[in-house]
Amino acid sequence: MDLLELLSDIVIYGSSDLVGNKKISSKTRKRILVVFIIVSLCHIGISAFCIFWAIKDKSIILLVLGILCVLLFIYNAFKTIEKYKEAQQMNKEIIKDFFDNLAPHWDNEPIADKEIIDTILDNGGIKENADVLDVACGTGVLFPYYLERNVKSITAIDLSPEMVKIAKSKFPQVNVICGDAESITFDRNFDCIVIYNAFPHFPEPEKVISNLSKSLKTGGRFTIAHGMSKKELDEIHMKSAGKVSNILPDCDNLAKMLESYFNVDIMISNEKMYQVSGTKK
Ligand SMILES: C[S@@+](CC[C@H](N)C(=O)[O-])C[C@H]1O[C@@H](n2cnc3c(N)ncnc32)[C@H](O)[C@@H]1O
Repeated sequence: MDLLELLSDIVIYGSSDLVGNKKISSKTRKRILVVFIIVSLCHIGISAFCIFWAIKDKSIILLVLGILCVLLFIYNAFKTIEKYKEAQQMNKEIIKDFFDNLAPHWDNEPIADKEIIDTILDNGGIKENADVLDVACGTGVLFPYYLERNVKSITAIDLSPEMVKIAKSKFPQVNVICGDAESITFDRNFDCIVIYNAFPHFPEPEKVISNLSKSLKTGGRFTIAHGMSKKELDEIHMKSAGKVSNILPDCDNLAKMLESYFNVDIMISNEKMYQVSGTKK
């Protein structure tokens, strides 16, 4: 990131509460930066003018005005930087709002082809009579595939109430719960847990892994998967969802994160898909 881009990011994310999820064109970026620089120069100019005349005319009032102007400028600069830092941290409320807004259009998005999903579900141990937990299920894109495999039960959770509303209305037979993968608890354990197309959206992924491991039967299978390559996914996220996404760890690093709880035996990262899966110790 060059200095100009960093400066415009600070100005944009630091002075607005809204921008987070929107992609800003480089033209708009430059305009915002120019306006900010003009406003700052005016501010500095007024301060300098007040202080200059205060000294010249020995006017206490002008001096106080000039100093106040300088202090206000410094205060605003610090506030802007503080807000920018806050905006860079992934925040659950922002993630929830982001996916609430996407929910009504989610099913218009292309999904991975059946062959890829079948590979992921075969590797994920999704078979007849399994009790399945789908974490961050969205509108339930995987539910028809579970049903096709005659699983015993499907439980699903998602942070976004709007996603949950749609998933429930499409699949009344599925137990869809609005909840946070980091803290949710269940009164039963599952044979398989699947996190599909969602792992980069967890601000503290280690907490999610540790929490979900408690809801898996010993020997049960835990799967994190994506229906596209890591490279493609990271590019999409950084272009349009940077505010609500981390970079997907590569397979080896994810396997290391999982190894305290699971025997990881599947690691796939190719141009079509990504999957890391293991059984509970
Ligand atoms: C990219 S969407 C994928 C949805 C679905 N798995 C699919 O493939 O269509 C990511 C989903 O993760 C959900 N999510 C994000 N953070 C979550 C959390 N902490 N707990 C549960 N769900 C979460 C979002 O609400 C969103 O529906």
